[in-house]
Amino acid sequence: MKLLVTSVFIISITFGYLSCSGNKSEENKQKPVNNVEAAQNNKLFSMSKYEFPNDNGIGPIKELSIEAIDQNLAIQGRKIFNSQCIACHQLDARSVGPPLRNVTKKYTPVFIMNYLLNTTEMQRKDPLLQKLVNEYKVIMPDQQLTRDGARAVLEYLRSIGK
Ligand code: HEC
Repeated sequence: MKLLVTSVFIISITFGYLSCSGNKSEENKQKPVNNVEAAQNNKLFSMSKYEFPNDNGIGPIKELSIEAIDQNLAIQGRKIFNSQCIACHQLDARSVGPPLRNVTKKYTPVFIMNYLLNTTEMQRKDPLLQKLVNEYKVIMPDQQLTRDGARAVLEYLRSIGK
């Protein structure tokens, strides 16, 4: 009798344990929306999520709608780049500043716009940019771009990314 009671006890503990732990693998299965993939498909996508999903920097731009690359805007951006940025930036090699070919894969577009429009404050407050300033030993001067100018430069940077 004692043996029977003990085994019923053990069996009920075992089942109790199994029923509690059984469902865990079903949790958190939902995949996050992959915005990089959406961008590659040239779909409209919210710019607040990218490689650094929450890091949009500090500045006047809070959100941007980005669609397929606008070649005319990219050409305007290239003109600005070639007159203003080329002194310090090459596309594929380190110069006074870092190479910029794939900078749109490093930061969200909103972050880039904010860095171009609010350079000094972001250099002071953003940890990654502080590191960059230390590494390059030069502080990128504020480029005095208008919002439209910065947007055109962003389009150029998007157009040259590999
Ligand atoms: C006088 C030199 C100089 C000029 C002109 C200049 N930059 Fe820079 N830029 C730098 C340096 C140095 C850094 C790295 C340190 C820092 O951020 O201050 C940098 C950093 C950057 C970064 C971040 C790069 C990374 O890998 O994180 C971007 C984006 C950028 N510059 C864009 C531009 C654009 C666009 C222009 C033209 C409108 C421009 N810069 C003009 C010197 C310059």
